[in-house]
This record gives sequence, structure tokens and C-alpha cells, in this order.
Amino acid sequence: MQKGKEPANGPSDGATPKAAVGRLSLYLRHLEALQRAGQETISSTQLGRALEITDAQVRKDLTYFGQFGYPGVGYRVQELRDALRALFGTNRTWQVALVGAGNLGRALLGYRGFRSHGFAIGAVFDSDPKLHGKHLHGVEVYDVARLPELARTLGLALAVLAVPAESAQSAADIIVDAGIVGILNFAPVQLRVPDVVAVVSVDLGLQLEQLAFLVNQRTATSTADSPSTP
Ligand code: NAI
Repeated sequence: MQKGKEPANGPSDGATPKAAVGRLSLYLRHLEALQRAGQETISSTQLGRALEITDAQVRKDLTYFGQFGYPGVGYRVQELRDALRALFGTNRTWQVALVGAGNLGRALLGYRGFRSHGFAIGAVFDSDPKLHGKHLHGVEVYDVARLPELARTLGLALAVLAVPAESAQSAADIIVDAGIVGILNFAPVQLRVPDVVAVVSVDLGLQLEQLAFLVNQRTATSTADSPSTP
């Protein structure tokens, strides 16, 4: 275990392995659960076991972002959780613009879990005039043309894009004009945005395909392993 002193400033060389960042989210979820259960410390072995990875991998990941462990103690749950939240920027509440108040947009709006992860949908934007001025789950719907003006006054820093594919690029352009530099894109299109804008795309179809692949593999393996009947 390493001596813990340095803050989580991130890697000095600027290169962040994507897989490690994915695991950091899992560490954070687990640490939050431990904190709710009142556990104060955890070793890399326990953390690794909980997430089905090796303790060496846990230490490697966490060392990459800062020195968190204490000899003979392990990791202090709250300290590591706070450091990871600071690293993700979720130690504050991000105000999020939801663009597209259709089936998906409304479902996302109704999900209360975002707030506990540091995200609040501060305003909804849609092109349909029938929705303007309405409140959905307590959040006002505005004309999407007002996004640049309202992003500044409401402090909207991220956007969730849930409009039909054919409208996605024009809506993304408005989001970019609004000075928002992070888009969670649900539309099945590759968005063209300036380099300064980060886009994370969500594709449940892709996830389902991967799930089907895994189930297929397991079925094939268990069929191959089963003794053949004479
Ligand atoms: P929907 O048709 O129910 O809602 C779309 C909403 O966007 C409507 O309220 C419409 O007025 C609004 N809209 C259209 N053009 C706009 C624009 N330029 N600016 C602002 N608002 C605009 O569609 P639904 O079912 O909610 O799907 C939304 C998007 O999410 C689609 O692109 C769909 O393919 C995608 N989707 C993605 C999933 C994923 O796993 N990534 C899962 C489900 C849907």
C-alpha cells in the first residue's frame, strides 16, 4: 500500500487510459455503497474482490491518479470517494440541459438518480411550440432557439441530446453555440463538433448486441462442455 498524501490531480502525462477511467467509476460506486454502510477503510484486495479485478490492478489504477493508500490501513473510504468525485468533477452539481422532450427525454427527466451523482437537469429544450412553457417533472420546457441565451443565465454546462436522428446535428450546433462543451448523445448519429467539445454517445442497441454475444458465447461453451450422449 502506498503512503497517501498527494491530491488527485490526474496523471502528469495527460494520457488517461479509457479502461482505467471506466474502473474508477466502479470504484466510486462501490465506495459510495461502503460509505452508506458505515465502513471507514478498505484494502486493495477487498476492493479488487468486490469488483472482480486483481488488487494489483486496483493499486495501479489508483496510483495513476494520485497516492491514496496508507500502509497498514488501506484506503480511507471517504477520502478516496472525495478524491474520485473531485477527479470526475462530481463533487459539485452540474447543471444539465435536456434537448428533446420526447419519450426518451421524459424518461431521463423522471430519473431521480442523476442528482445523487452530481447532475441536475436545469432546463428542457424542444422545438415543439406546444411544449414551450410547460413543466415536465417540475422542469420548464423552452424553445430550443433560446438555449444559447439560457445556458448562460442558468449555468448549463452539459447537454443530454435526445432528439430524432435527423435533427441531432442542428440541435448539437445550437448546443455548441451555447458554449456547452459536453454532450451525452442518444441520437444514432456521429455528431460533428469542435475539438473542445466532448461527446459521449449512448447506444443501448450496441449494449444489447454485446449482451447477446456474451450469452451466445456462454451457450456455445456450455454446449461444447456438456458430455455427449451415447
Ligand atoms: P421522440 O420522437 O419521442 O422525441 C423527440 C423529441 O425531440 C420531440 O419532443 C421533438 O419535438 C424534439 N425535437 C425534434 N427536433 C428537435 C430539435 N431540433 N431541437 C429540439 N428538440 C427537437 O423520440 P424518442 O423516442 O424520445 O427518441 C429520441 C432520440 O433518442 C432518437 O434519436 C432515438 O433514436 C434515440 N434513442 C436512443 C436510444 C439509445 O440507446 N441511444 C434509446 C432510445 C432512443
